Order: sequence, then structure tokens, then C-alpha cells
Amino acid sequence: MTYGAVTKAVIPAAGLGTRFLPATKATPKEMLPVVDTPAIQLVVEEAASAGLGDVLMVTGRNKRPLEDHFDRAAELESILAAKGDDEKLALVQQSTDLASVHYVRQGEPKGLGHAVLCAQAHVGREPFAVLLGDDLIDPRDPLLKQMVGLRAEHGGSVIALMEVPRSQIHLYGCAAVEPIGDDPDIVRVTDLVEKPSADEAPSLYAVIGRYVLDPAVFSILEKTEPGRGGEIQLTDALRVLADSTPAAEGGGVIGVVFRGRRYDTGDRLSYLQAVVQLACERDDLGPELRAWLKEFVSTL
Ligand code: G1P
Repeated sequence: MTYGAVTKAVIPAAGLGTRFLPATKATPKEMLPVVDTPAIQLVVEEAASAGLGDVLMVTGRNKRPLEDHFDRAAELESILAAKGDDEKLALVQQSTDLASVHYVRQGEPKGLGHAVLCAQAHVGREPFAVLLGDDLIDPRDPLLKQMVGLRAEHGGSVIALMEVPRSQIHLYGCAAVEPIGDDPDIVRVTDLVEKPSADEAPSLYAVIGRYVLDPAVFSILEKTEPGRGGEIQLTDALRVLADSTPAAEGGGVIGVVFRGRRYDTGDRLSYLQAVVQLACERDDLGPELRAWLKEFVSTL
């Protein structure tokens, strides 16, 4: 059996970003720079390099800067071209050339599951990826490409998992799993719980923000009642796909245990850590920053 190719990516970006106020009063949190590149651009780059050239952003009010960022900037481009500053011109054009970016509005903040449901008309009956912008995956560890490959092989849906300490599992969706073959990092998901307490967690496998979903998820999301936090949870819909939807109807969920480099930009501390870590690795900034950091740390 062959399964259709994945060509579309959905990026939920309607959140208010209240953890970063006041920076996010008039600027979407997705535009906060990771060193010098807006976090959302890194996510679109990841989708594009996994072969997903069609990107749908699920946005809300005050998200105009996202549209501007992926659009041409004619005035700026002609000024840079007239100056002959090809390097900066390439930086301006980079985001426009990555993918074909589309937008739909979520309207009401009813949760991640609801945001994904807003993508239904654009996605149609094809499998699609969902990328959450708070999680950055290092391009040297191509997780999404691997997930797209697993979907092509097995059908159904594929989610990314990461082992976390028990003290952190309440921050994530959590998956119960069983082995399916020789590779211990490719598993079948048998159950899912959104943000369980440490005692209730069925495992220490946390769901991280990369999904490849069968379109069967849409009809389940339509029926999914609000769950944790009063929101329609994607995790709850995936649980139905994992547990009680036959494979012939798009059921079955595979988990990939990710052991590569992931950066969390969802709260202030981890955002700062991600920026410092990534800047330290850059050829242009790294050497000076590392030397300065060593000296600075010795004074603390
Ligand atoms: C969302 C999901 C959760 C997942 C997490 C990954 O939660 O609901 O299952 O583990 O993303 O980052 P959020 O962090 O948006 O509250």
C-alpha cells in the first residue's frame, strides 16, 4: 500500500504570547528574534527543508507582521539593490522565497485542536504536518523529514516524543507506547494524556511540537469536547486515532523518540538559553560571544 505524499504544513500562530509581555503587546511572539531571525522563519525553513512547500499559518488579531515578513518588501529591496548591498538584499528576500505561505484566522482562542481544525478547508483530504513555533528543532537533526518518511511507510499519524524528567511531564502531552520493531525509538502510541500530573503520567514520553497527521483527525476534532484548560486539545483527538480508529479509516499513531537538538522558545528563561546557545554556535558571533561569556560567568 502506498500513501499520498505530505506537501502541506500548518503552523498555529494565534497565541497571545502573554509570557513575553510587554514585548508582545504589539509584536507577535512568533516574530521575536532567535539571534537575528524571527522564530517563525526558522519554523518555515524547517517545513521547507522537509519538502513541505505549502505553509498555512493559523493566526489571529495583531498578526499582520507575520504576513509582512513572508511578503516582498519592495521599497526596502529597491533601496538595498540601488546600494548594491547584495548580502542584505538576500536576507530580506530569504523569507519570501522559502514557501508559499497562506493564512487563516482562528477567531477565538479555543485551543490547539481548534486551531488545527481551522486548517481543514486548506488541507482537504491530504496528510499534513503541524509545527508548533515554541519548539525549534536543529536543522542538523531532520526530525520532520523522518516523520514524513514514516507516514509514507505506515500511513496513519506520526508524533514526535522526547523523554523528560518526571518533574516536567505535566507541561506536555504524554504518550503510552509499545515497541513495533527493532528500532526502540520508533513506537506505537497506545494512549495519550494532555498534561498529566507526575503521578498519573503513563510514561515519561512527552509530545513535542511536530506532528504528521492523517486528515481523519479533522472529523474527530469536530466532535472533540473541550479538555484540559477548557480548550479543544489536539492530544485528545490523537488519542481517538491511536486507540479506536481503524487503520482503514486513518487510525494508528506512531511515535518517534527524538534524541536530537531541540530548543524551547516558549518561556523567557528557555528562550534566553536558546538564543545564547545558538549564537555561541554561529561562525560570525560565536567566537567573541563564547570568550565574553566565559569571562562574564567567572564574575558571577
Ligand atoms: C502543546 C500541546 C502539548 C505538547 C506541547 C509541545 O501544549 O498541547 O500536548 O506537549 O504543545 O510543546 P502547549 O505547550 O501549547 O501548552
